[in-house]
Amino acid sequence: MKTILITGGAGYIGSHTLVECLQAGYQAVVLDNLSNSSSEVLNRIRCITGVSPIFVQGDVCDAEVLTNIFSTYTIDVVIHFAGVKAVGESVQDPIKYYKNNVAGSLVLCQIMCNMNVFKLVFSSSATVYGDSRDMPLREDSLNTSPINPYGHSKLMVEQMLSDLAKSDPRWSIAVLRYFNPVGAHASGLIGEHPKGVPNNLFPYVSQVAVGLRPFVCVFGNDYPTADGTGVRDYIHVVDLAQGHLMALNYLNAHNGYFLWNLGTGRGYSVLEVIKAFSTVSQVDIAYEFLPRRPGDLAECWSAPQKASLELGWNASLDLNSMVTDSWRWQTLNPHGYDVEEEG
Ligand code: WQD
Repeated sequence: MKTILITGGAGYIGSHTLVECLQAGYQAVVLDNLSNSSSEVLNRIRCITGVSPIFVQGDVCDAEVLTNIFSTYTIDVVIHFAGVKAVGESVQDPIKYYKNNVAGSLVLCQIMCNMNVFKLVFSSSATVYGDSRDMPLREDSLNTSPINPYGHSKLMVEQMLSDLAKSDPRWSIAVLRYFNPVGAHASGLIGEHPKGVPNNLFPYVSQVAVGLRPFVCVFGNDYPTADGTGVRDYIHVVDLAQGHLMALNYLNAHNGYFLWNLGTGRGYSVLEVIKAFSTVSQVDIAYEFLPRRPGDLAECWSAPQKASLELGWNASLDLNSMVTDSWRWQTLNPHGYDVEEEG
């Protein structure tokens, strides 16, 4: 049985991918510093899969922690989620983003090389495309640069990984560019647990629907889109997780450097998302139009054909599933993983 090291495996996408990997028969070692997640996730994973993954609390930047993991366990492949991902924060604190995302990936690759592990799946982002306007975005649509340090950090790691694969044929590297991951596992036991005020639309709308917030701030209704609000390619986090599994399988049979978009290939507007939440929750969700958010694009969606052709992967869950599963997670876990103290 192969063993996967999942860095950031207690996070939103990491935990959903962990479930799919465990259920596919892999063993897993999870490395997470719990800076943006909770050890409660691992209890939930055990409830869903019946398996308790090995958990190491630590930082991917810590060479000693990584060396101990590779010395203790026979790691066959690494899925690398650990990093920071808030676009706005990256503008305010670029050093945090280059340290965690770039330096962290560098340390990981150094230790993998030292320990003769050469299979890696890397969590990248559509933010690398910058403010490209040639929709849908294909993997070669890099005619514009990222517009924030977060996107720059992801593109830098992609370049480093590409150079690694060119330097040594033992490397098998899959880079996955996510569009907008949303939703939650159908069990309602794991989901997105943003700390503080959510930056992203789905968790914010969900919190308004459940009464935690008064209304949705719609950032801009004057975009050149059908209803004037921003359009994005939302992808169910379980579809995304299964894309990682298929990339793993691909690396078992191929050496080299490979790159895929993971999106649905269609976009939904802010107002369409709000309407979908109102339908599922049976709540009339209040919203107000505010000025555009700096750095936002009018629209962004993927061309997912490459992953379909080469991995045999297609997103299968629609907007209603994304909203229904988000809503179940929200209503069952009003405080996310902050479990109520036994009282
Ligand atoms: C979606 C749409 C907003 C919040 C970001 C990162 C990206 C990735 C996914 C990491 C836009 C509008 C939002 C709100 C709103 N993360 N909106 N009111 O900005 O497309 O992508 O998250 O990889 O890197 O950039 O997602 O959910 O923030 O915004 O009107 O309260 O919803 O203007 O049109 P985004 P988002």
